[in-house]
Amino acid sequence: MRSRLTVDVVGCGEIAQIMHLPFLLERSDVCTVRAVCERDPHVLKGVAERFGVAAAFTDHREMLESAPADVLVVLTSGDHAPIIHDALDAGMDVFVEKPLCYSTRDAREIARRAKELGRTVMVGYSRLFDTAFDALREAVEAEPGPVCLRAEAALPMDYYYRAHLDVVRPLGWTPPEAAPEWGGSWDYLREEVLFNLAIHEVYCLRVLTGVDRPEILTASDVLDRRGVEVSWRSGDDLHVSMSVLTLDTIAGGYVEEFRAVTGSRTHVLEYPSIYLKHVPARLTTTGLRGGALVTESALGSYTSPFRAELDHFFDVVLDGRPCLSPAEDAAHDVETLNRVWAAAKDRRADPR
Ligand SMILES: NC(=O)c1ccc[n+]([C@@H]2O[C@H](COP(=O)([O-])OP(=O)(O)OC[C@H]3O[C@@H](n4cnc5c(N)ncnc54)[C@H](O)[C@@H]3O)[C@@H](O)[C@H]2O)c1
Repeated sequence: MRSRLTVDVVGCGEIAQIMHLPFLLERSDVCTVRAVCERDPHVLKGVAERFGVAAAFTDHREMLESAPADVLVVLTSGDHAPIIHDALDAGMDVFVEKPLCYSTRDAREIARRAKELGRTVMVGYSRLFDTAFDALREAVEAEPGPVCLRAEAALPMDYYYRAHLDVVRPLGWTPPEAAPEWGGSWDYLREEVLFNLAIHEVYCLRVLTGVDRPEILTASDVLDRRGVEVSWRSGDDLHVSMSVLTLDTIAGGYVEEFRAVTGSRTHVLEYPSIYLKHVPARLTTTGLRGGALVTESALGSYTSPFRAELDHFFDVVLDGRPCLSPAEDAAHDVETLNRVWAAAKDRRADPR
């Protein structure tokens, strides 16, 4: 059995520099970062120097041909499917940031191949690795009777929450500007609202409910495709709704919460922006105790969920532990997101 892993990283943008590369270096007890790959040469050079990685490539195929590591960590923007297939061809296990990919067919094919080859393809579903989420899941599972679950997110541009961080950016990069007026497009709704942001709500709700393929009741875009509103159910005992809105300004700040109303208590889980390190999530529970309604709050761990998910990935690859966010599960989310998008489009008389 292996006790150490070599790691190649593709995509050296914001999340790689803020989270994954620092945490990979922290885990030097089990891994060595062998090579980094980034298509922007300025960012590549800066990142390789900053994180002390000797081998640097602008094309991931050249990196994999040069002597593939045990593991590929995929942190690129855009569709991850082609890179995952190349890694599986090279005999590697894969950690890939969400979304797994955009097409339902690709997602199923990746899950099928990973199983056939006996490889791990773990998707970076960071919210699952927060201890406050575990507490919510355990509470919902333990409380019998009907459950009404609601996820609500109002999300300012990421930039407002990561501007203070020291990141190597492309030459000539300028901060994003707020759009002069509201209004998205169907591509924006699909790629940004659904696959980039609402995906966190979708996988958390899937894990909380145990429903892989929800029966969608309503789906519509919000404020001209800047957000989405969806509801689904499972029988008469489970009702789920989700509202995700993107904001060009900082507006009222970052909001991401899950509310679970069960037969006996109400729980509210609030996540901070993931870019604020060492700000834990908070779970607040209200219920009857001794004839009085009591509200209690508990903070999640101060350990970053990104560090916890990396530790889990190593446990899966090195010790054979079951993966909490395998491609097989992520394929359900890709399908759900595509169905929501199609349903929201269908609802509009003019789906341009
Ligand atoms: N789990 C979370 O909460 C979370 C948060 C932010 C981002 N993400 C995910 O992480 C991924 C990256 O996001 P980001 O914010 O760092 O984006 P980013 O644009 O800052 O970085 C992506 C980098 O990948 C590079 N790249 C793209 N295609 C490439 C290719 N084929 N080969 C080499 N380099 C390539 C780009 O040049 C860029 O530098 C996305 O999938 C995003 O959804 C997850």
